[in-house]
Amino acid sequence: MTVGVCYFPEHWPRERWETDAAQMAEAGIEYVRMAEFSWAVLEPEPGSYDFEWLDDAVEILADHGLKVVLCTPTATPPKWLVDRHPEILQADPDGTPRRFGSRRHYCFNSPVYRQETRRIVSKLAEHYADVDAVVGWQTDNEFGCHHTVRCYCEDCAAAFSEWLRATYDDIDDLNEKWGTTFWSQRYRSFEAVDPPRPTPAEHHPSHLLDYHRFASDSVVDYNRLHADILRDHDDWFVAHNFMGDFETLDTHAVADDLDLVTWDSYPTGFVQDRRTGTPSMDELRAGDPDQVGMNHDLYRGTNDAPFWVMEQQPGDVNWPPHCPQPGEGAMRLWAHHATGHGADAVLYFRWRRCREGQEQYHAGLRKQDGSADRGYRDATDVAADLSDVDSDHVDAPVALLHDYDDWWAVSAQPHAPEFDYWEHARTYYRALRARGVQVDVVHPETDLSDYAAVVAPSLHLADDERASHLREFVASGGELLLGARSGAKDPYNKLPDELAPGAFADLAGVRVDQHESFPADVDLSVAVDGGRAADGNGDAYAVSVWSEWLDPAPETETLATHTTDLADGTPAVTRNVTGDGSTVYCGVWPGADLADELVSGLLSRAGVETTHRLPDGVRVNERDGLTWVSNFTSDPVSVDAPADATFVVGDETLDGFDAAVVESAPADLELGTDD
Ligand code: GLA
Repeated sequence: MTVGVCYFPEHWPRERWETDAAQMAEAGIEYVRMAEFSWAVLEPEPGSYDFEWLDDAVEILADHGLKVVLCTPTATPPKWLVDRHPEILQADPDGTPRRFGSRRHYCFNSPVYRQETRRIVSKLAEHYADVDAVVGWQTDNEFGCHHTVRCYCEDCAAAFSEWLRATYDDIDDLNEKWGTTFWSQRYRSFEAVDPPRPTPAEHHPSHLLDYHRFASDSVVDYNRLHADILRDHDDWFVAHNFMGDFETLDTHAVADDLDLVTWDSYPTGFVQDRRTGTPSMDELRAGDPDQVGMNHDLYRGTNDAPFWVMEQQPGDVNWPPHCPQPGEGAMRLWAHHATGHGADAVLYFRWRRCREGQEQYHAGLRKQDGSADRGYRDATDVAADLSDVDSDHVDAPVALLHDYDDWWAVSAQPHAPEFDYWEHARTYYRALRARGVQVDVVHPETDLSDYAAVVAPSLHLADDERASHLREFVASGGELLLGARSGAKDPYNKLPDELAPGAFADLAGVRVDQHESFPADVDLSVAVDGGRAADGNGDAYAVSVWSEWLDPAPETETLATHTTDLADGTPAVTRNVTGDGSTVYCGVWPGADLADELVSGLLSRAGVETTHRLPDGVRVNERDGLTWVSNFTSDPVSVDAPADATFVVGDETLDGFDAAVVESAPADLELGTDD
């Protein structure tokens, strides 16, 4: 349980480094990450290396007891390399090169760039292998940031043909699996299949899905290249820093090659640029704990490997549409919240506000004149809070299933501009979190036997294997909630012969008779237990955007029916018992109240202890017998804990944007707010 910082010594005079290191140590910082954008300084001329400055920086930090995480500097190939090899540049779908002048301009499939990567990574690994202070590496930086997972250059076109050749038996197999008779799209060779470049109408959904798989696989491969070289030189850890709510990269697959999964958390930016709805003032000050939390739980995964926040927002930032100052204490709160979700270290990005370049409007822990900023005080506080806290891994009773393939397939044909796969999944996640339970966000093929309940918001692509995995879970007593659009497609993004939920139909005991979508502001509702919306009798629940008319099998129970004109009286949510467990199928995008109703029923049948329904912005996280209480609102929160429970951090009263840690189970706490 510790904190760290991202540091760019190359931006500051060498005479200052000693002071920086002393101030870091004084703050209680343990880890310092460096060098992710430093290629042009490490190799100013082709083949002529200058590692001396980095050696000095590492030594100074080590002298102050700090541990160093270095980065492979490949996110920013230097100008001389681009001039020599312009073919390393990525291209937009229309062929326009993504030129030098910012970052992430290289293509993952460029043979030349892979060769250059091997060269610089090997040099660095060799050089630092015997330096004790260097404890680990971050590969590159934020793979895919700035929409760069998907490239459309000639190298990618060639690599895509090869990827298809390795995936399908022959071109007829591809034609069959994709279904290319439609609009005369048959191919005669793998070479003839181009990347999805600009076309008059939309692309074939199977083509899109495979291109998106291919593009993600290219990053997985490229990351492995770094990891293998680094591991050849020492047994330091290999990590990568992923991003929040990030669609285009299968981070589960990249993580298979990592020792440590980390991600970069910027709560006040995320509520503005990757979430629907207008953020409240409190959210502009501290973000949305469930939006941040879902990423923590995704990157924590299920394995016992630790996870970190490699970049934590340090104050105001430069890239969202608006850049409010975080609430007083928010930088401390975020680190606590992350730790409650299982993070073993939280590193603030960056040490000091930079005086040059694109990120001058981005805060650091120190201001550009070197004096302490608001984040420095918060980082110092949380380092002190956590210095004595020792906690094992999170043991979540609930899994939320997520597969990037499903995200890409739904995005290729959302069938409503508002149908955002991740946002839909977050509806269920939010409901679980509001009941105070820890959730693992995991791949559907994960071993589910240790979970009491599983929520699968949208397992869109299905086959028998996936269905039998879930069947086994339910047969042995698991409680499953399957959401809308599950089983609607086969793994190639084609409708299967059978009606949705396709391979899951027997398990769910239901067929989808019709589906329809509506603008988000159209009021739709369902009634639970026979209540009617029009009666206003309290049994009506708001739903939106997506609506399926269900046809349950005779033994399947109907939990809710539609109450909206044409669909009135049609089943909308069902439950089917098989073996020792049961499957709820929810054919609508539930509002918060219906999601709570469904999730509460699921958790109670599964025997999972819950809290009362927590207000938005107040969350609890149990980790190894300790409960973190996080207040993302500006109002105070009271914590009524059992008399023998000790507060390890804070006390019974949390101020706005405050956190506490108490030795007690969440279900034994009573949280009070003004509402
Ligand atoms: C990302 C990057 C950093 C920096 C920050 C700014 O997370 O990894 O290099 O650009 O955003 O918030």
